[in-house]
Amino acid sequence: MEQKRYGHFDDAHREYVITDPQTPWPWINYLGNEDFFSLISNTAGGYSFYKDAKFRRITRYRYNNVPMDNGGRYFYLVDNDCVWNPGWKPCKTPLDFYECRHGMGYTRITGCKNQIEASVLFFVPLRKWAEVQKLTLTNHSQEVKHLKLFSFEEWCLWNAATDMENFQRNFSTGEVEIEGSTIYHKTEYRERRNHYAFYHVNCPIDGFDTDRETFVGLYNGFDEPEAVLEGRPRNSHAHGWSPIASHYIEVSLQPSESRDFVFLLGYIENEQEKKFTAPQVINKEKAHQLIDSLDTTEKVDQAFRELQEYWDGLLSIYHVRTGNDKLDRMVNIWNQYQCMVTFNFSRSASFFESGIGRGMGFRDSNQDLVGFVHQIPSRARQRIIDIASTQFPDGGCYHQYQPLTKRGNNDIGGGFNDDPCWLIFGTVAYLKETGDFTILDEMVPFDNQEGTEVTLFEHLKVSLDHVIRNLGPHRLPLIGRADWNDCLNLNCFSWDPNESFQTTENKSEGSKAESLMIAGLFVVTAKEYVALCKELAKRMRNEELGMRNGDYLASAESAGGGNHHSSFLISHSSLLEEASRMQQAIDDMIDAVKRDGWDGEWYLRAYDYFGQKIGSHENDEGRIFIESQGWCTMAEIGADEGMTAKSLDSVKKYLECEHGIVLQNPAFTTYHVEMGEISSYPEGYKENAGIFCHNNPWVIIGECIAGRGNDAWSHYAKILPSYVEEKCQMLHKVEPYVNCQMVAGKDAARPGEGKNSWLTGTAAWMWLTVSEYILGIKPDYDGLLIDPCLPATAGDYTVTRRFRDAVYDITIHPNGSQKGVRQIIVDGTPVSGTLIPYAPGRHQVEVRL
Ligand code: GLC
Ligand code: GLC
Repeated sequence: MEQKRYGHFDDAHREYVITDPQTPWPWINYLGNEDFFSLISNTAGGYSFYKDAKFRRITRYRYNNVPMDNGGRYFYLVDNDCVWNPGWKPCKTPLDFYECRHGMGYTRITGCKNQIEASVLFFVPLRKWAEVQKLTLTNHSQEVKHLKLFSFEEWCLWNAATDMENFQRNFSTGEVEIEGSTIYHKTEYRERRNHYAFYHVNCPIDGFDTDRETFVGLYNGFDEPEAVLEGRPRNSHAHGWSPIASHYIEVSLQPSESRDFVFLLGYIENEQEKKFTAPQVINKEKAHQLIDSLDTTEKVDQAFRELQEYWDGLLSIYHVRTGNDKLDRMVNIWNQYQCMVTFNFSRSASFFESGIGRGMGFRDSNQDLVGFVHQIPSRARQRIIDIASTQFPDGGCYHQYQPLTKRGNNDIGGGFNDDPCWLIFGTVAYLKETGDFTILDEMVPFDNQEGTEVTLFEHLKVSLDHVIRNLGPHRLPLIGRADWNDCLNLNCFSWDPNESFQTTENKSEGSKAESLMIAGLFVVTAKEYVALCKELAKRMRNEELGMRNGDYLASAESAGGGNHHSSFLISHSSLLEEASRMQQAIDDMIDAVKRDGWDGEWYLRAYDYFGQKIGSHENDEGRIFIESQGWCTMAEIGADEGMTAKSLDSVKKYLECEHGIVLQNPAFTTYHVEMGEISSYPEGYKENAGIFCHNNPWVIIGECIAGRGNDAWSHYAKILPSYVEEKCQMLHKVEPYVNCQMVAGKDAARPGEGKNSWLTGTAAWMWLTVSEYILGIKPDYDGLLIDPCLPATAGDYTVTRRFRDAVYDITIHPNGSQKGVRQIIVDGTPVSGTLIPYAPGRHQVEVRL
């Protein structure tokens, strides 16, 4: 294995430190928490947007560019004949020192050249619609230095898709204004837009440019802008073509002198009546306020401290000390951080997701919030309501929705029959974390149509009913367009390379295609639903609310929705009836899986359109798949008959490899029209037998439930970034501090090579796996369930868990045991069972296995 290293963890600062700018792939970070976001690479490449990476792109970025990762926020320093950038790119002048520190919501890039140090701190302050770039220049030499400083940002014309397409229009629309040290970008503001952006610096400037060709030169790249090479700004005013923003500042530094410059990239929205202060002159009032709030080093440092405190708070909710740095840093820092980023971005914008293709996925967002709900439950709550509002009355779903409008995305369609179940998965996680049952009373529309509102509880019910109403010939769930595996397209039969597998006609009419993955997912989520019904019934009885306040279930009738879903659950007893109705459906599903979903050594994956087996020893290729092994073992289907253990053993035998568990085996070597996209990929990549990290945790959780701690740990460590980081930075290629969606599998040309980093359901699932199943601290309605599953070598460890209004310091003594709690002592008193009952305050807990 190649040994070259490009960086290392700095746990004390919660940073990853990159020491060589020429990483095997740009290693990026995310800035921003709620509305204003930026992507930033280790050489300062990337872009910013407001809420929606497609419709409100603020700065321009060209994906798949040559050279890679070109375009970003660049500072050019001219020191006599030497032109350089603190982040090495774009000029690539060799630096005397280079370092990039990616931290929690910030990135600091430092470069030194000829005894000048340039350090830039990039971050998006809390609640602000702006990216701060604090540049500190220090003269480490013995002489006075006269430097020329140029900043650079390139504006995107808002819609990132048309920005890259519609040049007959774009080249004529660009408009800017310049006022003092602020450059305003106001393209299309004159008509339907009420928003603009600006780029400001907190000192007087000696020149500027706003027209790209004038600044760069038509035949030059960002590495040789004419204005910079000549050391002379043009003071250009853009009219159409490609507007940019560049400040020019002459800086003299005494020996040892250091100076800060605060650059601010901001975004503003104005009310319709307040758009202009004079004909065609934009109203800059809000921009001035934003600038005023961040125009000194002190104000910026204060905002940065607030950001750090914010992360201190978030990361103190679950904190483990095992003494294993590689584990602790992932649990305490990076895994939680990645969960926040995935929650914010879904799959929209990374260096593999262009920000124009995909909105928020129904299933993706529900999974993401499970990794995030302990951090900011109120945001998870809102997300659940937003997602549920895009559901259809029959429980089906749009596959995606657009974050700016929160509307279901018609272009992507629906019919993915796993989608509805995920709403239960997400909602239950929220309920257990918070104990806030009022969310079930929220009146939530279908497809965002006013007048269709029913309670969220009703949405959960129709979700499961959607599965029950769509069973196939073996009484297993019909797959629809696809299940979790977007590429197992059993009803698609596409021979046309111009149609997308995701949106082409779904020929499910008359289809026999059934999914064992949905069967397992159904059993897991329906069990949760049954437990929820019983919990509600219990609470109802306890609070003696009975009929009067049974309004979890208030329904369309009261909302005036007519014949939608009449309230069927209004009392304690009907909740119990509902629980037993669903239990029956679960039992039936379990029977169906045992009868027609078991292949002898593992669970089948599916039946195809014609009713032929997929994922069976009878097949030549694709004999065994991971998804059904994961979900059916999590559902414990046939555990007593030894099915789960056999299934997990088969995973080890056929699917496990050095870098993780592959999706299926053997890989498809030809295109199978009856399976669709899965067989379109070369062997070992993506859904065709890649290591799809997202689903490895399903098996790991299955192992934990089965009590096989050694196996669980060995699967987990294989895809844990900190272990991979140590082993193979070069081969793995992508960021070593976060999980990626896919690592090339054993059948690939380069097994172990990672792709699609950052935005992946892997983040939430890795979190769930380690926090709840391996370390074993699991929120439940009435407290924390303690049930670790550990490798036999595990030593004592302590988890500090903030839970609602309580804090628990839980020390676990495994005593060489992989699983099985023998004793729990809370504040000196033994409790029976594995539940620590919830009580506000701070508690000391001792657990012996
Ligand atoms: C991608 C999608 C996710 C899907 C998975 C498997 O990660 O975002 O929704 O489940 O691929 O195809
Ligand atoms: C492709 C990818 C899959 C992803 C889907 C989303 O099919 O292989 O991972 O979920 O696109 O559109």
